[in-house]
Amino acid sequence: MEHLPQQYRHLFPTLQTHTMLASCSQSALAEPVSRAIQDYHDSLLYMGTNWKEAIEKTEFARNEFAKLIGAEPDEVAIVPSVSDALVSVASSLTAFGKKHVVYTDMDFPAVPHVWQAHSDYTLSVIPSIDGVLPLEQYETHISDETVLTCVPHVHYRDGYVQDIKAIAEISQRKSSLLFVDAYQSAGHIPIDVKEWGVDMLAAGTRKYLLGIPGVAFLYVRKELADALKPKASAWFGRENGFDGAYAKGARRFQTGTPAFISVYAAAAALSLLNHIGVSHIRDHVKTICADAVQYAAEKGLKLAAGQEGIQPGMVAIRDERASETAALLKKKKVICAPREKVIRLAPHFYNTKEEMRHAIDEIAAKTIHK
Ligand SMILES: Cc1ncc(COP(=O)(O)O)c(C=O)c1O
Repeated sequence: MEHLPQQYRHLFPTLQTHTMLASCSQSALAEPVSRAIQDYHDSLLYMGTNWKEAIEKTEFARNEFAKLIGAEPDEVAIVPSVSDALVSVASSLTAFGKKHVVYTDMDFPAVPHVWQAHSDYTLSVIPSIDGVLPLEQYETHISDETVLTCVPHVHYRDGYVQDIKAIAEISQRKSSLLFVDAYQSAGHIPIDVKEWGVDMLAAGTRKYLLGIPGVAFLYVRKELADALKPKASAWFGRENGFDGAYAKGARRFQTGTPAFISVYAAAAALSLLNHIGVSHIRDHVKTICADAVQYAAEKGLKLAAGQEGIQPGMVAIRDERASETAALLKKKKVICAPREKVIRLAPHFYNTKEEMRHAIDEIAAKTIHK
């Protein structure tokens, strides 16, 4: 699998000077993505207007994201962030007459923030047990009164990967809708919304999707989308921007003009990822993570609990002073992402086994791990 970095590293200028292992936060910028950002800028600078081109680029990005997750383009809304996706979802569920929403203690904080701001819903939090979320927890906490179950595909801190198909089976059996936060998985773990039976799924572009902030995607299953009337929806969510009818499908979850510059970046990035194939990326990332896990153990480093789930795509190393260690590593041009008491090494298809080992050597030299 070392052929992926060999084939594609030249597209990432930063890799010549830096060890880039922070894909769970911001991946390295690829030249085609950089060119796309420049194209948006140049089209304004030299053509004066680029509205038509920007709308076409938005549709291209929608198609590419749909391809990445096994959906139809009409099932994908373009929104500013994963948080905004959830705000639109939360504004759309009152018609069901059920008020119970569940999420997990592994969800990114934006998820509870959105639900806690709504007085329309009663909330339950599914607790993890020793860094994992056994399926029995879903059996226990989802009930026939649950309108929506929110789960992260991958835990943002530990990299713990959940079996979404199995969770979807449970939520369907209990007639709950399922929303999947795929921000930490899209781009390095294959996703198939149809095969898994997912109702809604969201992901932003700055992590493993190789883009920049400003745009995210929300999948809503076609029949479900057509039955919902999100209150957080505006002219980009209308059939014709200037009349009142909701657009067909997931577009009705859109509000205003997208951040086109980020859409240009996303279009180029998604097209590169689809060209490579996420299943190849997954194989490569798994292989170098497995090597790194073993190497970290040899160096006496302790891993975060969730590392025992379905093989994670990041190596999360415990460190009481994670931010301090990451700042020291940054001075040595090793870019990784600290989160609470964990340093996350989150490689992508362009990284090598040697880079992971280099970062581990640096962490082992500096860390005060417990
Ligand atoms: C799993 C997950 N969900 C949601 C978010 C928040 O995304 P946004 O800033 O696009 O709302 C993050 C950001 O790090 C995340 O890791």
